[in-house]
Amino acid sequence: MLYPLARSLLFQMDAERAHTLSLKAITHAAHCGLVRPGEAQRVRPCTVMGLSFPNPLGIAAGMDKNAEYLDGLGALGVGFVEVGTVTPRPQPGNPKPRVFRLPEVEGVINRLGFNNDGVEHLLQQVSRAEYQGILGINIGKNFDTPMENAVDDYVFALRRVYPHAHYVTVNISSPNTQNLRQLQESDELTRLLATIKITQGELADQTGRYVPIALKIAPDLEAAQIERIARLLIAHRMDAVIATNTTISRSTVAGHPLALENGGLSGAPLHEMSLAVVHALARNLDGALPIIGVGGITSGARAKAMLDAGASLIQLYTGLIFKGPDLINEIFQALR
Ligand SMILES: Cc1cc2nc3c(=O)[nH]c(=O)nc-3n(C[C@H](O)[C@H](O)[C@H](O)COP(=O)(O)O)c2cc1C
Repeated sequence: MLYPLARSLLFQMDAERAHTLSLKAITHAAHCGLVRPGEAQRVRPCTVMGLSFPNPLGIAAGMDKNAEYLDGLGALGVGFVEVGTVTPRPQPGNPKPRVFRLPEVEGVINRLGFNNDGVEHLLQQVSRAEYQGILGINIGKNFDTPMENAVDDYVFALRRVYPHAHYVTVNISSPNTQNLRQLQESDELTRLLATIKITQGELADQTGRYVPIALKIAPDLEAAQIERIARLLIAHRMDAVIATNTTISRSTVAGHPLALENGGLSGAPLHEMSLAVVHALARNLDGALPIIGVGGITSGARAKAMLDAGASLIQLYTGLIFKGPDLINEIFQALR
């Protein structure tokens, strides 16, 4: 395919520029009819969170923070797309450069910091898109909202995105917003989940539609923490858990010249950690709610491993940077 050629050009550019250019190109191709929009492949169709997925492979959050490239991403044949993280108000994120490729190990370190144009802009983009497939909207807090008011940001964003999403993800696991991951601690998480569930109930009554809500967690959790989170997910009747976000660990890239850049590490060096979290969640949840597995899926074999570990759905981000759309076909082959 063409991607190896495109990749050698893209990898000469700054990582963020290459990202925007690739997504613009594929979306333009979809709008010009060069690729067919929205034709999801039917491979292992499944029902998860009460939604019917044509296949279990989706695009992870962060790839399309503002929902500007839905038609291009939909044209890749995936079963669902998760956009965001979106915050109530627009914010610029951290100073550039803030995304670093580690090609030798198929990894990326990013410290973007929820750069996005805010929830109103995202909804405008969603309403303009032709994409008809399953849409997840991932929500977060603004960097300058004090932690004691974090729940208010999630409730505000949830109220706005609820009518437009097939499912909503509550992201409390980015390492690039100060103290965000504290929300994974028991007391904070209890308060957050209770408020989210009350809001979901009100919105379901108002709209006549129940929209499932997933919680996205970090890979950097002790076994006891995973157990506590699993108990809370069940107690609060959450609809799904997404495991995992990027890691702050550098154990798998020690000695790499970029290893000491601040931020979250993704891609192949993350895979074993994410897989272990999915295994642990599967043990603790015992089928009470579905797991969406994400982290270092860079091959068909790794996609299968994530499903075998107990994930009902899987998502990709960094693998696509290194392998391009061919990775999607490789995974479908492996799952057929
Ligand atoms: C550049 C970049 C930006 C990301 N932004 C977000 C984000 O905004 N929200 C989120 O929940 N996850 C975000 N992620 C995490 C991914 O969704 C995914 O959980 C993680 O990268 C592991 O999957 P991967 O190894 O396939 O990339 C981002 C990842 C990368 C590489």
